[in-house]
Amino acid sequence: MPRETLTVIDNRTGREYELPIDHKTIRAQDLAQIRLSPEDSGLASFDPALANTATCQSRIAYIDGEKGILRYRGYPIEELAERSSYLEVAYLIVKGELPSTTHFAMWRHNIKMHTIVHENVKRFVEGFRYDAHPMGILVGTVGALSTFYPDAKDIHDIESRRVQTRRLISKLPTIAAMAYRHSRGLSYVLPDNDLSYTGNFLSMLFKMTELKYRPDPILERALDVLFILHADHEQNCSTTAARVVGSSHADPYSVVAAAAAALSGPRHGGANEDVVHMLREIGSVDRIPDLIKQVKGGDRRLMGFGHRVYKNYDPRARIIKQVAYEVFEVTGRNPIIDVALELERIALQDEYFVERRLYPNVDFYSGIIYEAMGFPLAMFPVLFAIARTSGWVAQWAEMLANDERIARPKQMYLGEEERSYVPLDQRDDAGQLETEIRGAY
Ligand code: CMC
Repeated sequence: MPRETLTVIDNRTGREYELPIDHKTIRAQDLAQIRLSPEDSGLASFDPALANTATCQSRIAYIDGEKGILRYRGYPIEELAERSSYLEVAYLIVKGELPSTTHFAMWRHNIKMHTIVHENVKRFVEGFRYDAHPMGILVGTVGALSTFYPDAKDIHDIESRRVQTRRLISKLPTIAAMAYRHSRGLSYVLPDNDLSYTGNFLSMLFKMTELKYRPDPILERALDVLFILHADHEQNCSTTAARVVGSSHADPYSVVAAAAAALSGPRHGGANEDVVHMLREIGSVDRIPDLIKQVKGGDRRLMGFGHRVYKNYDPRARIIKQVAYEVFEVTGRNPIIDVALELERIALQDEYFVERRLYPNVDFYSGIIYEAMGFPLAMFPVLFAIARTSGWVAQWAEMLANDERIARPKQMYLGEEERSYVPLDQRDDAGQLETEIRGAY
């Protein structure tokens, strides 16, 4: 039987090393024994962007990017999107199993208990400028929650971890809705705990003078499905941020704020906003070839296309595309869908995209739905953050349970060797220009 090991020969010394293989990985730490002398710190792996490095062991989400598969705790995303609710999926992600009826009732109750925020949180949000980006408000306010719940620093206490998890999942929609209403100059709406998780969120966003807000069931379900699809996605940029920050034993509010900050960038959670900008800019199908030309010329990227892991159709994009038609039954057709469909058709036949295995990702159609539902573009990443909170807290708790060490990667140093200090009045300008070339400032 072949051994599950890798044999490495160091051609500098002629020495041979046998490294164990576990789940298709070798331990980077095992490379450290490959050294020239006892004083040498040994070999390390160089992997900028962590593109081929497993940074943890996890049991939460499974992705097979070649086949276009996504599962949460073993359950296919398609089944969860069709048959489950977001709160049920959040339970699954956080606790590892789908809940029984009794446990689900308790979980729902526990989440609803925490939907209200402290009055000072409201005043905190009011302090933002009228045109503040809601993602900035969310990141700042979630970070500020740690000052309201000092018990959150007891990260080794399971009861504390549980209560902060419930608070985070409960309060994110409340804060998000406040951020939205702040930008509109509207008073905040108190949570309505008679409604579902997403129904209550819609109420806190869109309720006006009516005594009771009744969400459209199709839109409520569509948002719930979108939340399910965004709940976790294993070790992406924001989840890695959560685990790295959590590894210093920071409190969970700081962890989620850091993760949300990572999510806010256009390469991650901000992409669906850019997709809508791009589709609006194209405007009509006859202008698509021009855009494709620009993309192929390297002048811009086709937003909502491509993925570090999926080299096949993103399974979430397929579900979202279907949801779009259900939403349009209620809201009317968002005209940019025609541009999107034609863009997808052309791109999937084009050699450039085929060669690079670029397919629509989760963001290609989600923005079109959100826009049809009346969300301003700036709210898109905020919606992503609400859904991903269950994933972030589950990944954070798993990291703590695995007793992971503080994250501390290495670097490949390419800078100056030791040099002598030159007094200020003896330095010339030439060196200053050089710093710009090196990317320093
Ligand atoms: N449009 C045009 N070309 C692309 C695109 C795109 N969207 N994405 C990748 N490529 C090309 C890229 O230019 C490169 O070509 P070449 O080999 O000739 O240099 C090749 O494909 C590989 O690209 P990469 O940058 O090495 O791929 P990556 O894995 O580092 O990037 C990505 C992944 C998602 C950042 C990238 O595909 C991208 O920028 N997409 C657009 C933004 C987007 O839709 N982001 C949402 C991702 S899904 C939501 C989430 O999980 O956050």
